[in-house]
Amino acid sequence: MLIETLSVFPEVFEPYMSASIMGRARSMGALDFCAYDLRDWTHDRHRTVDDAPFGGGQGMLMKCEPIYEAVEDIRTKHETSPHIIFVTPCGASFDQACAQRLACHERLLFVCGRYEGMDERALDLADERISLGDYVLTGGELAALVIADAVVRLIPGVLGDEKSAVDESFSDGLLEYAQYTRPADYHGKQVPDVLLSGNHAAVDAWRRKSSLERTARFRPDLLEQAELSEQERVWVKQFMDQRAHNEGE
Ligand code: ADE
Repeated sequence: MLIETLSVFPEVFEPYMSASIMGRARSMGALDFCAYDLRDWTHDRHRTVDDAPFGGGQGMLMKCEPIYEAVEDIRTKHETSPHIIFVTPCGASFDQACAQRLACHERLLFVCGRYEGMDERALDLADERISLGDYVLTGGELAALVIADAVVRLIPGVLGDEKSAVDESFSDGLLEYAQYTRPADYHGKQVPDVLLSGNHAAVDAWRRKSSLERTARFRPDLLEQAELSEQERVWVKQFMDQRAHNEGE
């Protein structure tokens, strides 16, 4: 996969994109990364990328010309056209399903805003607009890094263990099951016996139930969409009743 970014702070990407799993993905050839400086597509002495909004108001807006010129140039740098993502608070909220969808693209270009926003016409270039959530960052760079991180770890081979991206939270719409490592007894806090039993079927069953219990406890909203068996719905109801009971105490 090729990931590219277009922003006025291209230098913020490299440290993260060369560390840990991202760095490994690049050295194994699963990921190529390139950060472009939007100012390279300006034509004035001050390399201006922003201007005051028509109609008045606070702050500066990113101009549309450098963004159009840059995207046009970057688009033709490789044979495959990029899937163009504008990171902006007015986009759809990012989630694991979106990460999975983006992981199927060969080439992603993130366009990152700064200042108080951008000229609305620039947004016409977007294949999609994505927001990290309902809060405002000073720019889209961090949002692009978060999305890139969630996507890159889904590329086959990047995590090493193919199962680890399948088993985790949200991959089946539920939170991940509880996990433990040594010691089996920490000041009286015991690891569940079944996990020490060596009985794989029993461990799998316990994990499914743990996943349901943790979801009911910490993110009950996720259960509305989850695909559950009759038995699982009964357990969920029990966990929810237990939760209501504990809260009432
Ligand atoms: N730029 C500023 N705030 C943002 C957000 N919440 N998500 C994505 N990009 C942003």
